[in-house]
Amino acid sequence: MSELKQSRPKGTQDFVPPDSERRRQAEAAFRRLAETYGYREIITPTFEHTTVFVKSSGETSDIVTKEMYTFKDRAGRDLTLRPEGTPGVVRAVLENRVRMPCRLFYVGPCFRYSRPQKGRYREFGQLGIEALGEAGPLTDAEIIFLGSTFFASLGIRDCTTQVNSIGCRECRPSHRDALRRFLLDRKEQLCDDCQLRIERNPLRVFDCKVETCRQAVRDAPTPRQYLCPACKTHFEQVLADLNRRGLRYELNDRLVRGLDYYCRTTFEYVSAALGAQDSLGGGGRYDYLLEEFGGPDTPAIGFALGLDRALLAAPVAPVPERRNLAFVVWLTDAEIGAAEKLADRLRADGIPAQVDYDARKVKGQFKTADAARAACCIIIGPDELIKGVYSLKDLATGEQREVSADVVTAEVRKLFAEQG
Ligand code: HAM
Repeated sequence: MSELKQSRPKGTQDFVPPDSERRRQAEAAFRRLAETYGYREIITPTFEHTTVFVKSSGETSDIVTKEMYTFKDRAGRDLTLRPEGTPGVVRAVLENRVRMPCRLFYVGPCFRYSRPQKGRYREFGQLGIEALGEAGPLTDAEIIFLGSTFFASLGIRDCTTQVNSIGCRECRPSHRDALRRFLLDRKEQLCDDCQLRIERNPLRVFDCKVETCRQAVRDAPTPRQYLCPACKTHFEQVLADLNRRGLRYELNDRLVRGLDYYCRTTFEYVSAALGAQDSLGGGGRYDYLLEEFGGPDTPAIGFALGLDRALLAAPVAPVPERRNLAFVVWLTDAEIGAAEKLADRLRADGIPAQVDYDARKVKGQFKTADAARAACCIIIGPDELIKGVYSLKDLATGEQREVSADVVTAEVRKLFAEQG
């Protein structure tokens, strides 16, 4: 092959079959699971006004400061490809006056300009849910349980669920002050970014990956030490319900999550199989975000699971040798019409069917059928046309037999079932 003239942009991925199918199956499994908990799908634009993200994800978050794909459209509007789903969902729910409480899920691509590596891409898939208008701790626990159920359904074994509480408007200021004082005493150990964070948003120092910063915050005051009685009770009830559900979790005092809208419960699913990008998904409460968007005071909680990382962590099932596809083979030009008709009949009965219109010889058609990994060929020749029977060839075993036209659909179905 001569050298290709184009390649995909850095940090993006192509999914060719069967990888594309594996991805769609995981999405379908997520949809089904979310629906069983009463969630319904919401579809929002892939890009929003930039302010939607700046206002919610937070001016001090890495996402907003470093990772957004922001551009001006031809009319000069300031737009951004969504780096996450939550802000667009909140905007859409308010704009469309969706009745609360409501449970919504979404599936789709997000975009972040970060340094690509295993499990980190510039375009990646998120599977998210948002429960708007639900305040109680049992919702938190149910949502945490839902995410972990999804990973288990994909066969991911080494997924650890980490939980924390970062408090509310009442208790956060006292923690922030204590943390600020603590960090000021260790200012010279912190990276340049974290030195700025001390004043702007000290909680973000917990997110920093620089080793000296990690060391510096090892004994820092944690949000949980400062919870007000209401937040403390809420969190205890979340944990009690996780225990009741038999879900194993770890408490992680450093789990503050990299987005500014969170309050109270935060959680993350972590996998040791992933290396540096070990977060399979995460979420938390965001009881103030709807109000900050100009909506009514509405408690809310949700998560987003990383589809790419989930598929990296999940075992890959062996790809079946053959797939459910019937190839209709014609012997001479006189049977092309009949082949076309039979393929249409099979399709109408829900059986995927294909005809090779280009290969003039039977051998060529068989080759195409094999390349497509078809399960079987149905051969139509002049004799078959006259007798009203077809030859059905099982491409897995090579066996060939005659089937009459009126049972061909049933026979193909049987063959699919045998091969599956
Ligand atoms: P997040 O933690 O920023 O949360 O992203 C959720 C998940 O998306 C991550 O745990 C990870 O699996 C995946 N992810 C993030 N960035 C990348 C990347 N560059 N490449 C591959 N996967 C990635 C949120 O987005 C919140 N909106 C979650 C939420 C929903 N909170 C409340 N509701």
